[in-house]
Amino acid sequence: RMSMAGDGHAGGHARHAAAAAQPVSVAELTGPRSALPDRYFYLEAQKTMVTLPSGEQREAWTFNGELPGPELRVKEGELVEVALYNRDVDAGVTIHWHGIDVPNAEDGVAGLTQDAVMPEQLHIYRFVADEAGTYWYHSHHQSSRQVQMGLYGVIIVEPDEAPAQPAVDLTVMLHDWQTENGTTVTLGGPDRLRRVKAEPGTPVRLRFVNAGNLPASVYISGVPFRVTAIDGADLHEPGDLTGARLELAAGGRYDVTFVMPETAVGVARRGGPFAQDSGALVLSPADEGLPPDAAADSVFDPASYGTPAAAKFGPDTRYDRHYTLVFDNRLGFYNGKFNFVQTINGRVFPDAPMFMVREGELVKMTLANRGFEDHPMHLHGHHIQVLSRNGKAVTGSPWIADTLNVAPGERYEVAFEADNPGIWMDHCHNLDHAAVGMSAHVAYE
Ligand code: C2O
Ligand code: CU
Repeated sequence: RMSMAGDGHAGGHARHAAAAAQPVSVAELTGPRSALPDRYFYLEAQKTMVTLPSGEQREAWTFNGELPGPELRVKEGELVEVALYNRDVDAGVTIHWHGIDVPNAEDGVAGLTQDAVMPEQLHIYRFVADEAGTYWYHSHHQSSRQVQMGLYGVIIVEPDEAPAQPAVDLTVMLHDWQTENGTTVTLGGPDRLRRVKAEPGTPVRLRFVNAGNLPASVYISGVPFRVTAIDGADLHEPGDLTGARLELAAGGRYDVTFVMPETAVGVARRGGPFAQDSGALVLSPADEGLPPDAAADSVFDPASYGTPAAAKFGPDTRYDRHYTLVFDNRLGFYNGKFNFVQTINGRVFPDAPMFMVREGELVKMTLANRGFEDHPMHLHGHHIQVLSRNGKAVTGSPWIADTLNVAPGERYEVAFEADNPGIWMDHCHNLDHAAVGMSAHVAYE
């Protein structure tokens, strides 16, 4: 049943042969079990009534009654322990630490690394947060429904020796509520215009997280800004941007920094004027005042942004494996329903390809989209370096990601090091696509 694409081979280097001879230990697959945690969090999954910007009341499923869930902040190198208690989410829940390369057993994938945590059950996650950056967490059980219902939040890993923290450090979660009369687009929770006071001269960091299923547009007006990190990984020498629209992959993150000017700065999902009901964010030195209209004459392109720097993979890298993943859709049966199914190399999960690797190998993947929808591909447990898009090499800063939007007709080459043993999901983060087949595994031999 295994179908491998590309020219995967066993890898000839001596270090691999040695690595393959060593069985993987349980300690490698789990977070440290006995040490005392540096940080402890309690997250309770529960049914909660929320009010949408339209005034409509609806049931959400939340962590600790909050939407988004509580912001978790830890420091680089800390041992984090999270107790997940499910109060009353009937189908059961888990937590996946999206973008944090945790040991396999802590990855929170129901049916793969653990069972769903059922009502009145408790589950403990432990991992070392070893890379600073912006990440998020969400349930990974029936996730197309559970993330949509609100079971998500941000987790921020602060640098160990923090260079003077920005005075304003805000998370902006992008999430679309599907309602009976269409989609309500929100910034963060079901808010109206959110105002934040910031004095001129204050350094500001905005952490955008796209918790939705589609690419999310963000307009920033009233100030030049920099994109300082993608998916938690810092960019090298980012330059100032004005009038560029950001497009975040579903599941992806951008960190944006700027220095607060004398006048208001706006953040919006749509172009046009800011209004009290637009679900936008306004930073201003005063309680009043609106920023200039949200507009953009270009789209931010990570492939040519920043300046080149040393990276793990370069033009001379010799890869141990090369896999090709082709994304497409067709009519077919999935879970007993006849519908569009989303395929990887013509297959749907679990009849999908399993991409085998060995610890220590350098793996190249070609990702090609032959369908007509965006496919934000997310590999668990690893970070990928984007090498090229449509045959054109990345010319700016090294671009490291965990979620990469492959638009219709696009072809990317990416690379990662197989440095985290286990069985890992590699799936589309349009979770509705993952739910109709667009999932595969990367598995260690
Ligand atoms: Cu953010 Cu497999 O998920
Ligand atoms: Cu997809």
